[in-house]
Amino acid sequence: MCDGMPNIPKSGSGAGMRSRALYWLFGIVAVSPLVAFVLMTRVPGWDSLAMHPTGHFWIVSAATLLSGAIGTALALSVSSVRSTRTVYLALGFIAIALIFATHGLGTPGFLVPAGQYPYAVVISAGLSQTVGAIFIALSVLPTSWPGSKFVQRNATPILGVALVLLFGYLFSMVFKPDFWEFLPRSRPWDTILALSTIALLAFAGWRYYRSWKLTQLPGQLAMLGALAFLCEAQISMYYGQLWHLSWWLYHGLLLAAFCTLIAGWAIEAVRAKSLIVFSRAIELRDSLDALHSSDEAALEALEAAVEAKDSYTRNHMGRVAEYTEAIAREMNLTPEQIEVAVTAGRIHDVGKITVPDAVLMKPGRLTEKEFETMKHHAARGEHIANSSRVLRHVSKVVRAHHERYAGNGYPDGLRGEQIPLEARIVAVADTFDALTSSRVYRPLRPWSEAVTELERVAGTQLDPDCVAAFLRWMVKSGELDAQREAA
Ligand SMILES: [Fe+2]
Repeated sequence: MCDGMPNIPKSGSGAGMRSRALYWLFGIVAVSPLVAFVLMTRVPGWDSLAMHPTGHFWIVSAATLLSGAIGTALALSVSSVRSTRTVYLALGFIAIALIFATHGLGTPGFLVPAGQYPYAVVISAGLSQTVGAIFIALSVLPTSWPGSKFVQRNATPILGVALVLLFGYLFSMVFKPDFWEFLPRSRPWDTILALSTIALLAFAGWRYYRSWKLTQLPGQLAMLGALAFLCEAQISMYYGQLWHLSWWLYHGLLLAAFCTLIAGWAIEAVRAKSLIVFSRAIELRDSLDALHSSDEAALEALEAAVEAKDSYTRNHMGRVAEYTEAIAREMNLTPEQIEVAVTAGRIHDVGKITVPDAVLMKPGRLTEKEFETMKHHAARGEHIANSSRVLRHVSKVVRAHHERYAGNGYPDGLRGEQIPLEARIVAVADTFDALTSSRVYRPLRPWSEAVTELERVAGTQLDPDCVAAFLRWMVKSGELDAQREAA
């Protein structure tokens, strides 16, 4: 079922060049608004006046609707995900939508007479970004943050309270804007708001960048682009000249930010049918960073970040590590080899974090295309292991855990001794645990049947020496008898 080898991107290959080109394109697109702003404000005559209240109303309304749609989509995914990060992210975009809406509604000539500039217009654009940035930054705070448990438990009431406050702001700004005149609006205050908003967005951007490096999913790259646009919007917002191009720039940037994000998510939605990967990748990055040693507890935390997505494989990697250790000891490997095998066994499926749930948890047989997607987890796992100092030494073993002894495995189609010994051991442990646990696509099999199956595939799929060592351990340790009695 798995003949045919996928292409493996090597440095200097087409894939490598494509990603370099992507970096450049991303950089140029991200920097150009800043260059445009500098040119507009420095070159005389470039910052022309364009007084279009109607245009302003519609562009702000469009940005508001898009931000609101992003926030709502995220909020709707919360009840099933129970993720603190998603709650914060949803609040961030909903806050931007509701506060920014008052900026549009207060456009002179709409709800207020032409020629008047109510405080709502003056202050709401900046405020919407600052409040939004606070929530977006909270959405990427490290897991150890003391308040994160509270928010996790009270996701729904917090969303409710925030929505009431935000709607309160919206209505008071429309009907009683004078109330808000105690909020200062002066140069030093502006600069403080702009700088802190940029700092918050940059912090979030840095966190998304690091998790994007792990998974390289388009949705995360889109988030990074959106955050860059929002950062640059701050400069035009506070330092552009009212009704001039330098001021219009930020309206365009906000629209661009939300469109970028929605486009990235649309790709993700088609590919994975889920937005959960944002929080997962951040959690994975956190647990990799927290990994200072390959001790049991640290690796268990990492395992939890991976297995959170798939209840069917819960504890799978822990059991695989256990069987791997038994086989490695039975084969009299050195302590160093045993450590490599066990660590690799514990994280062997870490690359599955990038496999869409629709594929990973599909009850039926995978299509050719879905299987190709599934196969990527081996190479992605190698990449993720390489990104951690503690795991780097097991990356080759992680990559090779689906190679087959006879040579028709993936991703490289290695055979026999070409496959690292530790990977051959992990493969036996992995196969056995897959056979003896229930999966979404089939019920579990009794141990005796699983043993017969292992013997059947020894020499083709699995290394016969490793299988023999595993069976010896089972007899010696009495595990097989214990299972027979239990059955
Ligand atoms: Fe795997």
